Amino acid sequence: MARILTGIQSSGRPHLGNILGAIRPAVELSKLPDNESFFFIADLHSLTTIKDGAARREYIRAVAATWLAFGLDTEKNTFWRQSRVAEHTELAWYLNCFTPVPMLNNATSFKDKSEKFASSVNAGLFTYPVLQAADILLYDANIVPVGKDQKQHLEMTRDIASAVNNFCGEPIFVLPDARIDEKLMTIPGVDGQKMSKSYNNYVDIFLPDNELYKVIKKIKSDSTPLEEPKNPDTDVTYQLYSLLATDAQLDEMRQNYLRGNYGYGHAKKALYELIVEIFAEPRRVFNYYFLENPDALEAELQRGEEKARAVASKTIARVREQLGFN
Ligand code: ADP
Ligand code: TRP
Repeated sequence: MARILTGIQSSGRPHLGNILGAIRPAVELSKLPDNESFFFIADLHSLTTIKDGAARREYIRAVAATWLAFGLDTEKNTFWRQSRVAEHTELAWYLNCFTPVPMLNNATSFKDKSEKFASSVNAGLFTYPVLQAADILLYDANIVPVGKDQKQHLEMTRDIASAVNNFCGEPIFVLPDARIDEKLMTIPGVDGQKMSKSYNNYVDIFLPDNELYKVIKKIKSDSTPLEEPKNPDTDVTYQLYSLLATDAQLDEMRQNYLRGNYGYGHAKKALYELIVEIFAEPRRVFNYYFLENPDALEAELQRGEEKARAVASKTIARVREQLGFN
């Protein structure tokens, strides 16, 4: 039995990149009979960048509703808010005291953020990887599916875990492996760069139809006239379509591009219609939990939090015992 664990920060509403690159593959992994999954909302991590409480509340609900919309089975798996299981922060403190400062100084994500935030850079950003290590080690996770930008954080988690294990002279923590699917990391945004909240180039599939179509129409294209043939391989609409379409649908669009008399507007309409069609059920479930029945969402999370606490409290007991806090 492998334990799969991953977290998504509640730093915005999940977009198509998050869904295809992280949420949907994680849910697929959780369906394998031998896997037991732990998926949580990294709301404490989101405090490193987002301070506004109302925004956080909305994003937590949006991230949670997205997991459920993509079919996470909360009976079989564990699904919770990081901030509601106090053991995360308790373990993070213990781990802080085993983490060499030079290791944190070397974290590329911290270096990037300290450049971006300059003098307003906060200590939470500095110790971010330690809280992430606590998230993982608390649940004895074996496999952590993440994007490749998280590779270094996983290496740090293993280093911190090994430091504690060596100190204690016994395997207190399980050493987790990252699972990185390189080909999933490249989902482009409407401007052709990597889709990201921070570039404001994302496709939010949960928008109402007309707003969604407006976003799709913004996808970058060149000025090749309608009647001329177009290169599908350099076009962002085609790239996004290829992530969702069947082989037959994709082949049809490809032929249209190559033949000419087919404009980017046609391709965008086809992409919009495909999104509406294949995500009809996730969009319905998202709206149910996010808009119509937030109490049902809250109930799911609270149930998950009890399950998470039951596991986390055992790990914490082990650590307290070792460190003399019992
Ligand atoms: P953002 O860049 O929008 O802030 P996050 O860093 O919060 O996204 O990413 C959350 C998860 O979604 C990560 O596991 C990451 O691998 C995945 N992800 C984000 N953007 C993309 C993308 N453009 N293509 C594929 N996966 C992505
Ligand atoms: N740092 C991760 C990200 O930005 C989110 C995260 C927090 C996480 N804790 C985690 C991912 C534990 C995996 C495991 O994508």
